[in-house]
Amino acid sequence: MSSNDTVGKNEIVDSEYENLNNISLAGWLDFHQKNVVFDNVSWMGIPTWKNVLDLWIYQELVFKVRPDIIVEMGSFKGGSTLYLAHLLENIGHGRVISVDIDHSNFVASHGRISIFTGSTQDSGIITQIKKVCAGARVMIIHDADHNKDTVLADLYAYADIVSKDSYFIIEDGVVDLFSPQSVLGSALGGPGPLPAIREFLKSDRRFVADRDCERYLLTYNPNGFLKRIHT
Ligand SMILES: C[S@@+](CC[C@H](N)C(=O)[O-])C[C@H]1O[C@@H](n2cnc3c(N)ncnc32)[C@H](O)[C@@H]1O
Repeated sequence: MSSNDTVGKNEIVDSEYENLNNISLAGWLDFHQKNVVFDNVSWMGIPTWKNVLDLWIYQELVFKVRPDIIVEMGSFKGGSTLYLAHLLENIGHGRVISVDIDHSNFVASHGRISIFTGSTQDSGIITQIKKVCAGARVMIIHDADHNKDTVLADLYAYADIVSKDSYFIIEDGVVDLFSPQSVLGSALGGPGPLPAIREFLKSDRRFVADRDCERYLLTYNPNGFLKRIHT
C-alpha cells in the first residue's frame, strides 16, 4: 500500500465522520430506532431493546437506591433483566422480578431473577406483586404495553409499592415527541407513555420527573425517570 492510498482512506473516513457530526439528536434517535435498538444491542449475548445511555443511568440508580426488588414490567428475551441481575450481583444485594405477558422468548437465567407470567393489568398479578414487595425497597421499570391507557393504569396500580427515594421508570415516552409519520412516532399508532406520565404527575404529588437522569440528552425516556419524593 502506498502512502497515497493511506492518505486517501483517511480522507474518506474523515468525511464520513464529518457527516455523522451533523446529525441532530432527533436524527440520532431515528437512526437508533431504525438500525440499532431491535437488532444490534445485547447484554451478554441476549438482545436488549434499550438505548445504552439509559442503561448507564439504570446502573447509577441501582447503585444509589440499592433496591431489594426491581420489578421489570416487559422483559422480552431478558437482556435487560440479566443486565439488572448482574448490577445487583455486583452490589451483592437484591433481586429482579420479571413480569411479562409472554415469557416464551425469555432466555435469561440467573439466581437473582424470578418470573411472573401475566399482564401487568391482571388483578392476580397486581396482588402477587404487591404481596412480594410488601416492606421491601422497590424500584419499577415499565417497558411493557406502551399505550397511554395501559401505562396510566399501571402507574396507578403500582405507584404505592415504589419506595421513597426510589424510581418508577417509564420507558419509551420518546415516541410521543415524534410525528406519527416518522419511524419513532408511528411505533404505537396512538398516544403513548408521555401523556400518561403527565396525567399521572398532575394527580400524584409523591412523584416528580427527575430530569437529571436525562442529562446525556439522548434518552428514550423523556420525563420518564419518576422519583418518589414523599411517602
Ligand atoms: C419492549 S419489550 C421489552 C424489552 C426488554 N425490556 C428489553 O429491554 O429488552 C415489551 C415486552 O412487554 C411485554 N408486554 C406487552 N404487554 C404487556 C402487558 N400488558 N403486561 C406484561 N407484559 C407485557 C411483551 O410481551 C414484551 O416482551
